[in-house]
Amino acid sequence: MSTAIADFGLIGLAVMGQNLILNTADHGFTVCAYNRTYSKVEHFLANEAKGKSIVGAKSIEEFVSKLKRPRKIMLLVKAGNPVDALISELITHLEKGDIVIDGGNSHFPDSNRRFEELKANGILFVGCGVSGGEEGARYGPSLMPGGADEAWPHIKDLLQSIAAKSDGEPCCDWVGPAGSGHYVKMVHNGIEYGDMQLISEAYDIMKRVGGFTDKEISDVFAKWNKGVLDSFLIEITRDILKYDDVDGKPLVEKILDSAGQKGTGKWTAMNALDLGMPVTLIGEAVFARCLSSIKDERIRASKVLPGPKIPKDAIKDRQEFIDDLEEALYASKIISYAQGFMLIREAGKTYGWKLNNPAIALMWRGGCIIRSVFLAEITKAFREKPDLENLLLDKFFLHAVTKAQLGWRKTVALATTYGIPTPTFSTALAFYDGYRSERLPANLLQAQRDFFGAHTFRVLPECASDNLPEDKDIHINWTGRGGNVSSSTYEA
Ligand SMILES: *[C@@H]1O[C@H](CO)[C@@H](O)[C@H](O)[C@H]1NC(C)=O
Ligand SMILES: *[C@@H]1O[C@H](CO)[C@@H](O)[C@H](O)[C@H]1NC(C)=O
Ligand SMILES: *[C@@H]1O[C@H](CO)[C@@H](O)[C@H](O)[C@H]1NC(C)=O
Repeated sequence: MSTAIADFGLIGLAVMGQNLILNTADHGFTVCAYNRTYSKVEHFLANEAKGKSIVGAKSIEEFVSKLKRPRKIMLLVKAGNPVDALISELITHLEKGDIVIDGGNSHFPDSNRRFEELKANGILFVGCGVSGGEEGARYGPSLMPGGADEAWPHIKDLLQSIAAKSDGEPCCDWVGPAGSGHYVKMVHNGIEYGDMQLISEAYDIMKRVGGFTDKEISDVFAKWNKGVLDSFLIEITRDILKYDDVDGKPLVEKILDSAGQKGTGKWTAMNALDLGMPVTLIGEAVFARCLSSIKDERIRASKVLPGPKIPKDAIKDRQEFIDDLEEALYASKIISYAQGFMLIREAGKTYGWKLNNPAIALMWRGGCIIRSVFLAEITKAFREKPDLENLLLDKFFLHAVTKAQLGWRKTVALATTYGIPTPTFSTALAFYDGYRSERLPANLLQAQRDFFGAHTFRVLPECASDNLPEDKDIHINWTGRGGNVSSSTYEA
């Protein structure tokens, strides 16, 4: 068979795969490309890959034989069954210590399973989140690898050299064990949903309450992009809003307001529910897309359900309005990232993963959709205190939220007054007020649960007494009638 000449092998020659191969070759590595349809390999070698350190293979056997050991193989195929099918085919040709990297959009429970299955065969599995789209894959993606720790020293140099750089640091580091790389990619996508919805709400308020034209809104985003909100998503929003159709009218206003989704935001929200973490902003962002997609029903409802009239002079001071809105967006974004890191922290505990928190923020700083100036501060916060309990308790973010608070409240109040839906701005504020409340009305809730279902409650330590003992599940005969109250936890 052929001699082992390639440093890296990649399977799956869709655009992402081709671009990652070209990127890897540009960084001095020899790459072997494989696709089940050999004509795709041939075409690639004769065109894009021509003159570069890229070779091809006709079969899996040939592909494997061309790779230096330990073999490093990345799969970039459709998530789901195609990954399992390829792995079971590969496995018979691999040897102990070889590394299989799944660079697709796999759901982390699948990566957990594949990690275990390959481990049983002595193969090192890495689930690697890849973000940045086709452009990122070609010139520097954000890479979030996690899985078999022993694999990292063998792939570190390669992955970090092809990754995006932020202030000279690669946006790629080891995330943690098993499926944690894909987990962090999932949360990244959830946060992306949140950021996009926040920006869309800001646009809606400017348009409907402020009466701004798209050009004016574009100018506001252009200005924000020079400040604390400086980010890829703000930048593209600026450009979208000034893009005109052939008739000279803003194209964005002609787009059907019914949002699609592929499911990664939903996965994040579902996982937050599973882990009992209040990741409300991502949840609302997913639901906002759901509400948008029942367009026909909304059209019917819009004809019957009344709301407030928005007067022409709803905005007294334009500059103040925009400044408040910027603060609302910034504060809400801080809440969203704080919630995202709460979720990651809980996942670490629940799944027994030791996670590299500062590296997670660093990986999101460049190359990916949520890249922003702001992430540098998150990296800094976690570098100073890797076990930081909550981002809101870091002094930079504490100060930022405190400063933005008034504008944030004014913006939510304004939107509410004039009937503009702001699910993410509002939930962020509700979360903030809940998180900073020493007491919440859950005492009443516990009483209700005990009243109708004998679910029992605990007493506040300072209110403990002989009839209400501390640290005990208490049930009260609320009605004096007894009756058929029952509960699985009822043991009084
Ligand atoms: C082959 O390439 C196509 C894109 O051209 C891609 O969709 C597919 O996943 C690849 N499959 C394999 C097994 O190489
Ligand atoms: C609740 O109190 C009433 C009145 O004192 C009593 O008759 C009843 O047995 C009690 N029920 C329970 C379940 O303790
Ligand atoms: C409790 O439920 C049982 C069976 O459902 C019923 O026969 C009984 O009358 C109920 N007792 C009271 C106090 O409601």
